[in-house]
Amino acid sequence: MAILSIPNQQVQVTDPQEIRAFMNDRGIFFDQWFCDVEFEDHASTEEILAAYHSDLDPFMKNGGYQTADVISINSLTENYEAIRAKFLAEHTHSEDEIRFFVDGQGLFWFHLENEDVFNLLCERGDLISVPAGTKHWFDAGEKLPFVKAIRIFIDMSGWIPEYTESGLEQQFNEFNFPKRG
Ligand code: LAC
Ligand code: NI
Repeated sequence: MAILSIPNQQVQVTDPQEIRAFMNDRGIFFDQWFCDVEFEDHASTEEILAAYHSDLDPFMKNGGYQTADVISINSLTENYEAIRAKFLAEHTHSEDEIRFFVDGQGLFWFHLENEDVFNLLCERGDLISVPAGTKHWFDAGEKLPFVKAIRIFIDMSGWIPEYTESGLEQQFNEFNFPKRG
């Protein structure tokens, strides 16, 4: 279940309806798919996609999405520092960035025009679609990263990051992942 934070306003939102409204008002699609499947660390892409096909198939059909794959990061991931650095710098994409969180967690940061930067902690069951051109970055954490997410594309080439070089993300590097309660 996601948690929304606006660090500069010391705001934290945990209510899913409120989060959905906040995101949707800003053109960011957010949804939650029920999900009670536990995967082994070595679960294959096919196995994970198959477990979600009843949500995935209609979603992909309606949106005209062509391909889906699975990204899996954990504490044994080689070159995690380099992978982290790639996601952690503010960037945009020429197509929507769609992620469904199968397990673990990650923090999506958003930089919209004329708004304080906000972030969304995405966890199991959370689906997010970041519109093309939206400035964002992502962090699975400095230590002990764990995230398993389905990525959905129209055309994989649209996913190449275009870095803004703003360095804005560095203003938030002291932010700790929010905890519930
Ligand atoms: C990406 C994310 C994580 O570009 O922003 O894959
Ligand atoms: Ni991105």
